[in-house]
Amino acid sequence: MFLLLILYTEFWGKIAKEFYWKTPYTGNFMDYNFDLTRAKIYIRCMQGATTNMCYNVLDRNVNEKKLGDKIAFYWEGNKPEDYARITYKELLQQVCKFANVLRAQGIKKGDHVAIYMPMIIELIVAMLACARVGAVHSIVFAGFSAEALSERILDCSCSLLITADGFYRGDKFIKLKEITDEALKLHGENPVKKCIVVKHLKATKENDKTSTQSNLPPAKRACLKLQDNHNEKAKNVLHKTQIPWNEEVDVWWHEVMKEAGEECEPEWCSAEDPLFILYTSGSTGKPKGVKHTIGGYLLYTATTFKYVFDYQPSDVYWCTADVGWITGHSYLTYGPLANGATSVLFEGVPTYPDVSRFWEIIDKYLVTKFYTAPTAIRLLMKYGDEPVKRFSRKSLKILGTVGEPINPEAWLWYYNVVGDRRCPIMDTYWQTETGGHMLTPLPAVTPLKPGSATLPFFSVVPAILSESGEELEGEAEGYLVFKKPWPSIMREVYGSYERFESSYFKRFPGYFVTGDGCKRDKDGYYWITGRIDDMLNISGHLLSTAEVESAIMEHLAVAEVAAVSHPHPVKGESLYCFVTLKDGHEFTDELVTELKNQVRKKIGPIAAPDYIQIAAQLPKTRSGKIMRRLLRKIARNERDLGNTSTLADESVLEALFKNRVETI
Ligand code: PRX
Repeated sequence: MFLLLILYTEFWGKIAKEFYWKTPYTGNFMDYNFDLTRAKIYIRCMQGATTNMCYNVLDRNVNEKKLGDKIAFYWEGNKPEDYARITYKELLQQVCKFANVLRAQGIKKGDHVAIYMPMIIELIVAMLACARVGAVHSIVFAGFSAEALSERILDCSCSLLITADGFYRGDKFIKLKEITDEALKLHGENPVKKCIVVKHLKATKENDKTSTQSNLPPAKRACLKLQDNHNEKAKNVLHKTQIPWNEEVDVWWHEVMKEAGEECEPEWCSAEDPLFILYTSGSTGKPKGVKHTIGGYLLYTATTFKYVFDYQPSDVYWCTADVGWITGHSYLTYGPLANGATSVLFEGVPTYPDVSRFWEIIDKYLVTKFYTAPTAIRLLMKYGDEPVKRFSRKSLKILGTVGEPINPEAWLWYYNVVGDRRCPIMDTYWQTETGGHMLTPLPAVTPLKPGSATLPFFSVVPAILSESGEELEGEAEGYLVFKKPWPSIMREVYGSYERFESSYFKRFPGYFVTGDGCKRDKDGYYWITGRIDDMLNISGHLLSTAEVESAIMEHLAVAEVAAVSHPHPVKGESLYCFVTLKDGHEFTDELVTELKNQVRKKIGPIAAPDYIQIAAQLPKTRSGKIMRRLLRKIARNERDLGNTSTLADESVLEALFKNRVETI
């Protein structure tokens, strides 16, 4: 054990030396307690060290590593004609300017800044500028609704919000500024004092008579160096729109950037100071603000990126995740930038303008490492091999997947068709809470098995526990837990230490509990079997059934609701809801549409249930608990219900089977 500790400290201590610390850490690399029966849970990495994340991922690369002229991002817009690129030097310059803007707006170390933006370079600039001034960013996925945005802004008291006028995802126009305004009006007092708006489209302020749309300049993309030969085309695809504007709160990004200086001293922070808060679904229905800190997160994302994707300086790396999710934080932004990598940042969707878009982009930028989600693979697999084979994909070397278990059929298609049997697949298992990869193969090192995330990353110590908390050896199935901390483990659920402890450390004292079920095979390989709490994973996004149920419950006609997960061929899982209506209300198609819209409005389109069925009564135990296990079976039309002896009234089951909705 002692030897393990020395190895751990040596390993990470050596990696820490590759980064810049204003002052080094004193004492242990890691201090922690995972056992709440002994003391309060805590995790501290590199105490005493001071640093700055932005300095490490930009200044260090430009000044020490001489990567200033290297491209940091190729930006690929929603339409193929709209693209741009930015070098490390230019990115640093833009970040310094925007960091000065933040300071001019009164933002200082420890303040919380909400970011609600499309996948544009300004989003990366905004994140890194927060990191530069020591502010904590809280990014809200731009597909979330006004309510979801408002809830997150209020929960972590953000005083500043950064957004954009609007954007396209495929042919769908998203009026981002309108949603933002709605969010700010939702709850009377809101903490946001200023809202900085990027003019991504050709937006004008509402009722602005001073400029007519027709003679507007093209949308000013201050930080983007549009490729010269493409300037004209890029102008043409940008969209004209009018947006609501509040002179007291709103400011244009390009206007505040005009005056900003290019020199900006980074704020030197403690390694344990927070870097960001990112919300993930919690089983009680209220999202949890997962807090990550600077030092450990920097080391872990940089190292996992380097080894899992076998990073080489000549790589063009592309992670298709949205920055609004943890994958976009760790493996589109911080991990790749910490290595000085060149990445693709894609605004659009895999099916627009056609289903070859991913493969077209791979050929356009000669992408070498490609990281996406099983749901995207399953979606594209439906269209067969031809749209893939239309493009060469010769540049590809390594493929990656994340977000949910990948079924062997999709794995094999990814391997055989997309990767032409040349590219190993890194099935990376991890969570918002873990900050970085936990179980993952390493290219050319780990023999692969389709559907298995294989083995733990360096210094990760997994275990499989039985129901009673016993550690199971050898071939086994049970609860996946981790026995020791790794540098990028979350530090807190923002605003509720109690919730942090009870969500991750209470069920099995002494372990970090992932909430996932897992099997270990005879070779020691890990196979994630899915969530074992009331969470479900739709297209790689975690949702809690409680969150969806409370959105539906707000409808006047609804007396009771139960949501369960149902298998879906593309999304992995989908939501099937049973609703009981109040007297005097009828179950109609209109009502079903209203209920689905209610979820869209409260949470966002990703959470909208696929199926809603009427339930005169829900199956309950004698103590009144809804038996979701039975509801899952009913949704699947599985008559073998197992033991139903705890059910208060068996007669409800037949009516539920009778009213089932046909599913795909
Ligand atoms: O259930 C696991 C599943 O996604 C959950 C974490 O979701 P989230 O915090 O949103 O982060 C997603 C991106 C890291 C996990 O608890 N999951 C993630 N990756 C895999 C996976 N399940 C199986 N295999 C994976 N590779």
